[in-house]
Amino acid sequence: MKILAVNGSPRELGNTAQMLISVLDFCKERGADVEFFQAGGRAVQGCLACGFCTKKKGKCVTKDWINELYPKMKSADAILLGSPTYFADLTPEIKAVIDRCGYISRADGNSLSRKIGAGVCAVRRAGSIHVLDSIQHFFLINDMIVPGSTYWNMSVARDIGEFSLDDEGVSTMQRLAENIMWLLEMKSTNAK
Ligand SMILES: Cc1cc2nc3c(=O)[nH]c(=O)nc-3n(C[C@H](O)[C@H](O)[C@H](O)COP(=O)(O)O)c2cc1C
Repeated sequence: MKILAVNGSPRELGNTAQMLISVLDFCKERGADVEFFQAGGRAVQGCLACGFCTKKKGKCVTKDWINELYPKMKSADAILLGSPTYFADLTPEIKAVIDRCGYISRADGNSLSRKIGAGVCAVRRAGSIHVLDSIQHFFLINDMIVPGSTYWNMSVARDIGEFSLDDEGVSTMQRLAENIMWLLEMKSTNAK
């Protein structure tokens, strides 16, 4: 069982990263292979709509880290996309992942089908629901399975480290992690 978390915040150890790591730590303890991928703060281009990925399967014409990330997404059983809230929206790095990995995967035999997908979002005050909706729209159009938690997957946090002070955010991540493992374990049992 492989779980990949993509951090869309440029703050490498910021609240979004800590939320993702809290999920990965739980899943790792339960026996999953986990990987953290830093996307935020790295130069990236939007989709050029050139159609290259429909001809050269699994590849994007633009030579940046998206070509490094896509194979990791393809081989993962569960994918977490994390973004802080920026003007009630997700970061450009996560938007690039959605548009480009989304197009690559659809041209590559709908390679994300039936993987588990969860968004997580840090927010100072408002806009996180829009961020989570955007991420979940990506999962849902790609035939993925989206687990819930006991609240939306967000943490009310501004400065680095404030996630750990948000008890409800911490317990929401904990339950999300439990649900991801529950689904993965069900999936592997049924596959046998
Ligand atoms: C450019 C920018 C825009 C932001 N816009 C919002 C916003 O619309 N709503 C909000 O509640 N917080 C907003 N914030 C605050 C961040 O979402 C908050 O600090 C979050 O914890 C950052 O997560 P990180 O530590 O993972 O980077 C903004 C921060 C930045 C830098």
